[in-house]
Amino acid sequence: MKKTVVLTGDRPSGPLHLGHYVGSLVSRVALQETTQQYVMIADVQALTDNFENPEKVHNNVYEVLADYLAVGIDPDKTTIFIQSMIPAIPELTMYYMNLVTLARVQRNPTVKNEIKQKGYGDTVTAGFVNYPINQAADITAFQATVVPVGQDQLPMIEQTNEIVRSFNRIYKTNVLKEAEALITKTARLSGIDGQAKMSKSLGNAIFLKDTADEVAQKVRAMYTDPNHIKVDDPGKLEGNTVFEYLDIFATDKQKVQELKDQYQKGGLGDMKVKNYLLEQLNAFLDPIRTCRQEYTKDTAYLREILLKGTGHAHETSQNVLTQIKQAMHLVY
Ligand code: TRP
Repeated sequence: MKKTVVLTGDRPSGPLHLGHYVGSLVSRVALQETTQQYVMIADVQALTDNFENPEKVHNNVYEVLADYLAVGIDPDKTTIFIQSMIPAIPELTMYYMNLVTLARVQRNPTVKNEIKQKGYGDTVTAGFVNYPINQAADITAFQATVVPVGQDQLPMIEQTNEIVRSFNRIYKTNVLKEAEALITKTARLSGIDGQAKMSKSLGNAIFLKDTADEVAQKVRAMYTDPNHIKVDDPGKLEGNTVFEYLDIFATDKQKVQELKDQYQKGGLGDMKVKNYLLEQLNAFLDPIRTCRQEYTKDTAYLREILLKGTGHAHETSQNVLTQIKQAMHLVY
């Protein structure tokens, strides 16, 4: 039986953090066993808001790849590739642009939000507002039918499927496949400051590559219950990021329950809970860090993996592109 084609990716605008881990990395490690999985390092998309910092994007391609390998994404099971090395993607983007109105790209809620967050206003580039069309090209170039993403990416899948339907109708074909978003259960991890989302740009992230010292500093600064001032005060668990992280990363669930009970009753200080979280986080991160260090030392090996994956992705996408061009009467 043909395996489901899954495609996902990340913008290499920084190394990956715990939010990525719970949101997507765990699910990728599982999906590579049962599906045909493509994981794309979206350097072209990263350039849409980092076009003045090409070195940053370049270096982060290797950081992201090291993160992938360290958490167990296996290049023998998953095709890891670089977006800029797949010529079918920009070519498809160009064709799809005819099928999307300007009003439609300007209405994309995720893009609108990002424009606001980054303060672009009227200076937003055409490249940036176009990135959802580029993302539709990423997905369809591989005929992916499942796209594991966070909630904020749902508008991208919706826009992709609109393009797929228009394309197939206009060019009388079924070569493009609609994609389904796969949202993971613990899709979202709060930042250390208690904000709803961990993100590099919000400065509230714990990175997989952080040293034990850096993690210690961040855990000490973590948001708990602002009304839990004295050790004897009863503390609240809702909105308490330390307990949110314990629920996810601590292995001894019974111990976590005991801490929760004691915290709510009063008599358990934040420092104690934070120290326990730190211990648990380090136990989780240590093997990832060690593995990561090995990989980052060996850039030749990292390049080899990238080129191999990209070669495979190139071949697949060229095949799909040929079928698409046939449907468009572009084969001469
Ligand atoms: N937009 C995604 C993000 O910001 C990254 C991405 C680019 C992507 N192309 C994709 C995700 C295709 C899934 C499928 O995280």
